[in-house]
Amino acid sequence: MQDQGKLIVIEGIDGTGKSTQATLLAEALRAKGHEVIQSHEPTNGPWGKKLRESATTGRLTITDELDYFLKDRQQHVEELIKPTVQRGGTVILDRYYFSSMAYQGARGLDPSEIRSKNEAFAPLPDILIILDLDVNTALERIGVRDGEANEFEKREALQFCRDLFLKLANEPFAHLIDTQQDIQTVHKCIKAICRI
Ligand code: TYD
Repeated sequence: MQDQGKLIVIEGIDGTGKSTQATLLAEALRAKGHEVIQSHEPTNGPWGKKLRESATTGRLTITDELDYFLKDRQQHVEELIKPTVQRGGTVILDRYYFSSMAYQGARGLDPSEIRSKNEAFAPLPDILIILDLDVNTALERIGVRDGEANEFEKREALQFCRDLFLKLANEPFAHLIDTQQDIQTVHKCIKAICRI
């Protein structure tokens, strides 16, 4: 028998290993017989595609950027997240609206307003796993070097995001994990949190 459906979200700045951990968790849950859907935001849907394209064709205005993330997420919630959880499946998300609070917050919007706009339609996660890493190590892992074009901007933005994720770790559904540890140790922490 499948337990009640669950929404498990993995967040953290770039370089913390979110997608690797999402895959390991999905495999561990499937091995226990759970129906698992692994997904990510931005999605591969029309709004998510526009957002990805903007990374190469030029960044959107902050208003459009937030609007596209909201539209992408609304579709994700209605078409995949809610139906899966309602039929007793587990959804594992690599990024969710906490990333909007962090990244669009880093561009100057108010994170608490971003949060209310999202929570008007997006369900709270049952479990939020925050993968933490200091910004210097994260930049090394993603291959950004000191003095490189955009390096300073990127550092500032990631620092804002990391600090915001650290604040979110105080939420009752959140768990913080230090990702200086190796992949298998982090995976074991995640399994303990999800009781598998
Ligand atoms: P993606 O190519 O999926 O990379 P990653 O492996 O880092 O997740 O791009 C996601 C980017 O989109 C990442 O830089 C964070 C950003 N993002 C936002 O700015 N707001 C959001 O709401 C989400 C979900 C992601």
